[in-house]
Amino acid sequence: MTLLEKKIESYLLDAIKETFKNIEIDEVNIQPSNNEKFGDYQTNFAMVNSKKIGDNPRKIAEKLINNIKKNEIFEKIEIAGPGFINIFIRIDYLAEELKKIGEKIEFQFLDTAGDVVIDYSSPNIAKRMHIGHLRSTVIGDSIKRIYKFLGYNVIADNHIGDWGTQFGKLIVGYKNWLNKENYKKNPIEELERIYVEFSKKSEENESLEDLAREELKKLQQGDKEARNLWKEFIKVSLEEYERIYKRMNIEFDTYYGESFYHDIMPLIIEELKEKNIAKEDEGALVVFFDENKNLHPCIVQKKDGAYLYSTSDLATIKYRRENYNLNKIIYVTDERQQDHFRQIFEITNMLDWKDEKHHIWFGIMRFADGIFSTRKGNVIKLNDLLDESVERAYKIVSEKNPSLNEDEKRNIAEVVGIGAVKYADLSQNRTSPIIFEWDKILSFEGNTSPYLQYSYARIKSIMRNANENNIKIDYNKKLIFTENSEINLIKFVYQFPRIVMLAATTFKPNLLADYIFELSKKFNTFYNAAPILKSENKDIINSRLILCDKVSFIIKEGLNLLGISTVDRM
Ligand code: ARG
Repeated sequence: MTLLEKKIESYLLDAIKETFKNIEIDEVNIQPSNNEKFGDYQTNFAMVNSKKIGDNPRKIAEKLINNIKKNEIFEKIEIAGPGFINIFIRIDYLAEELKKIGEKIEFQFLDTAGDVVIDYSSPNIAKRMHIGHLRSTVIGDSIKRIYKFLGYNVIADNHIGDWGTQFGKLIVGYKNWLNKENYKKNPIEELERIYVEFSKKSEENESLEDLAREELKKLQQGDKEARNLWKEFIKVSLEEYERIYKRMNIEFDTYYGESFYHDIMPLIIEELKEKNIAKEDEGALVVFFDENKNLHPCIVQKKDGAYLYSTSDLATIKYRRENYNLNKIIYVTDERQQDHFRQIFEITNMLDWKDEKHHIWFGIMRFADGIFSTRKGNVIKLNDLLDESVERAYKIVSEKNPSLNEDEKRNIAEVVGIGAVKYADLSQNRTSPIIFEWDKILSFEGNTSPYLQYSYARIKSIMRNANENNIKIDYNKKLIFTENSEINLIKFVYQFPRIVMLAATTFKPNLLADYIFELSKKFNTFYNAAPILKSENKDIINSRLILCDKVSFIIKEGLNLLGISTVDRM
């Protein structure tokens, strides 16, 4: 609930207590109306409580509104339909409150105790990040920003895939086919190459697989040479990932990869055995689920004693619940891991671990224009994607604004190009597959990040203009708003805290994206309908400039919650 909603609620509660002495109530459901006709907020209190009070809803609503005291917020109150109460908010109240936006955002009344662990991005070592990692990275980052903004303590964890059978193969490849020069220049590319080389060669020469198993075993037993190589592969991979994260303005608090939990895995196996949750099946250890769960059995230890992805995730949860004061854990991966997490969560239920966990999955990204689909290997490297987007943005910026100097153009292109890629992802419903189209994402029209960044820059230009004309904003003056377009805009500004909370509870950054888009559209409608600096009345100019300033604050803050930067001119 936002502060405004809380205030509305408290006035309603006062009246309810006075009118209906026989009921006990400490919460009232208030919803923003979806149509201006029904006011700004609505409550269904009368309908929901009709039985308890023992009267028909319209009567209840009538009695109640007679007892609502005059106050600074309510303009008028009406009864609609079967007993809805429609509340209209006073514009002068909102106008005065508008001045406070930016000092503090009104999120109260949230239980933000404990730690929120967000597990996202998580590429596998020795593989370059590709387009598939984009979604987990940007959705995870946005969820992190939103939760932090709401006041939660967030731990952003990059659950790197740094343990597994690939290392045996990589070590064999490294020892036999490494191109040293290439490895120096482009280590991950070279590691990928020797990995592919291994797969090809082992098809003809089966003994290679045995060699790889031996190397893996050495690694697992702590052999020094194997360990050092493994560490080096991790180091060079992380260096490249970090370059990309930095470029995308993404930061993690921890990089605890799968290997970090290695010593906990035997403990998990013990516990699962002891509690009779895992059973031996053909030499392996397996968890079987009740039929009604509709889940495949989950292997937690192979015949040869090796642990699996499932074991490592169980160990990870054990670590997190022992080392953090968990509020919740949020995993962000693509849709193909749904069964995996359902199994893991079900096993934690069987263990009676009650921590709140969410698997936030997303649909896979596809290309419609085929630009990259012909590329060998069919994988689009994340860095190439970013380069391409920035290059395209550079061309557009240069065309639109030839007078900018080269540095400015480059800087704007980077912000617009990276923002466009992120927004193309974040603005879509998380669970739908994404069709990625260059022309659409870099358009300056419609629901794209350049359009939003441009709206922001436009407001900044108005502010510069005001400044050049020596018009100073005066916060002590009473604000006056008369035009419909500006009143609509102010009311919409007030939705911001509610939308941020909704985006958090549903883990859907796209709700926030939709909101910023709608806000920018409403701003542009206002901008076209009402003169700002050219108005006759100084108080109106002052009021409108304050409105502009606050709208720009929210666009910037909103984009920031999506991990997208802004520029003051473009
Ligand atoms: N490394 C995995 C992959 O690339 C994702 C890990 C997700 N996190 C987790 N705790 N399982 O598919």
